[in-house]
Amino acid sequence: MNTIDRRTFVRAGLALAGTGLLAGCTSLGTGASLILPTSPRIGEAEARRRTTGRTHEFRFTAQAAQVDLGGPQVNTWTYDGSVPGREVRVRVGDVIQAELANRLPADTTIHWHGLALRNDMDGAPPLTQDPVAPGGSFTYRFIADTPGTHWLHPHSGTQLDRGLYAPVIVENPADPGGYDHDWTVVLDDWIDGTGTTPDEVLTRLRQGAGGMGSRHGMGGSFAPGGNVRYPYYLINGRVPAAPVTFTARPRQRARIRFLNAASDTAFRIALGSHRLRITHTDGFAVRPVDTDTLLIGMGERYDVTVTLGDGVFPLVALAESKDATALALVRTGGGTPPPSSFRPPELNGEPLGYDRLVPVEEVQLPVKTPDVEHRLDLTGGMMSYDWGINGLPFDPARRLLIREDRRVRIIIRNRTMMWHPLHIHGHTFQLGDTGPRKDTVIVLPGRTASCDLAADNPGQWMIHCHNTYHHETGMATILGYQT
Ligand code: C2O
Ligand code: CU
Repeated sequence: MNTIDRRTFVRAGLALAGTGLLAGCTSLGTGASLILPTSPRIGEAEARRRTTGRTHEFRFTAQAAQVDLGGPQVNTWTYDGSVPGREVRVRVGDVIQAELANRLPADTTIHWHGLALRNDMDGAPPLTQDPVAPGGSFTYRFIADTPGTHWLHPHSGTQLDRGLYAPVIVENPADPGGYDHDWTVVLDDWIDGTGTTPDEVLTRLRQGAGGMGSRHGMGGSFAPGGNVRYPYYLINGRVPAAPVTFTARPRQRARIRFLNAASDTAFRIALGSHRLRITHTDGFAVRPVDTDTLLIGMGERYDVTVTLGDGVFPLVALAESKDATALALVRTGGGTPPPSSFRPPELNGEPLGYDRLVPVEEVQLPVKTPDVEHRLDLTGGMMSYDWGINGLPFDPARRLLIREDRRVRIIIRNRTMMWHPLHIHGHTFQLGDTGPRKDTVIVLPGRTASCDLAADNPGQWMIHCHNTYHHETGMATILGYQT
């Protein structure tokens, strides 16, 4: 059984600073003055962003729809009736203007995952905006100055585990390029409309592992991976029996942007008979490094380039510790596709760990002693489903307090028996002293990740586990700027 190998992730960037000011997770005392999303400081920060002045308009209608997953028909919630939603693609510095129309029977918003955007457009209700009520609408407007492969999704309840997600590509003209094709591969675990909904999954999880019927496949053991066994695993909204096909010519080069939009599943990825050259993670360039396979947690992105062979090749995403796969095909010539359950031998390689990812110079944070350190212990367990931070469930009155222009170190210790992909809004951090720049990091059981960030984006920002069910039950807190 494949489980995320501890060695894979944790060799890099785990040194703890010996000194430094240690600040706890602080309840707001009287006198603390927060920089709120409504503060003029938010507009001032936006005015400092470089912009091309070009505006791209988008419209997203969040609505219920029947969707064909390539055989299975499901009733679910979507953007404009399709899963994934339509890709947003702009150039760095362009303005995104996106109207969200809510035709769902529930409140919603759009969060722009990976974009270090102005705080009042971050889409994390009720922290950064009021939720958009059924029948209502909201227009997001901001400068997209974080290049790379990102995505959008709601930030309400378990909505992310329905069909509400879409890629957001911010092209960087400074990227070296050198590829003929640019493909986006969105991974997902799927349960909605198959006889149960994500809200029902959450209810069962809260009742404890024993409450989860075998039909929905709760593992009986404490596998360090996710615990919800999904009926389907998808690439770009398709089950393996009806895969999407990417076409090219032999020896052409393709850039493939992987994005894990799943709620409870990490994927191990391989392209049969090819090696993957990793060029970016979470939008940030790394020194190119080759691997047979890579592991991607919920919320993470990896960009790779491949030089294509001649034939038809399976692009496989193995649901980690769940013994099931998602599939797409790459076709450059004749040949019969492999059976839909095929697992290329490349999957058996050692997945590339963070320790082998070195940021290119331009994206490295200059080395600096942190002005403030926050410790964030991930706590809770599967049986009681009491996920939290520092032993407490999410409390909107609590903050990790920081100030503008400081260097902040956040030390994340995983005190649980499961792994968690931790995500920080509005910022990217450097993992350890020399690790990659990221916004989402897998922290394995018993391990620690040290995340340094420049406090350059005033406002109030969510920090949370990107497992939808862990987030929803309390593994979340707030990074709060004060004046
Ligand atoms: Cu993609 Cu708050 O998350
Ligand atoms: Cu988690």
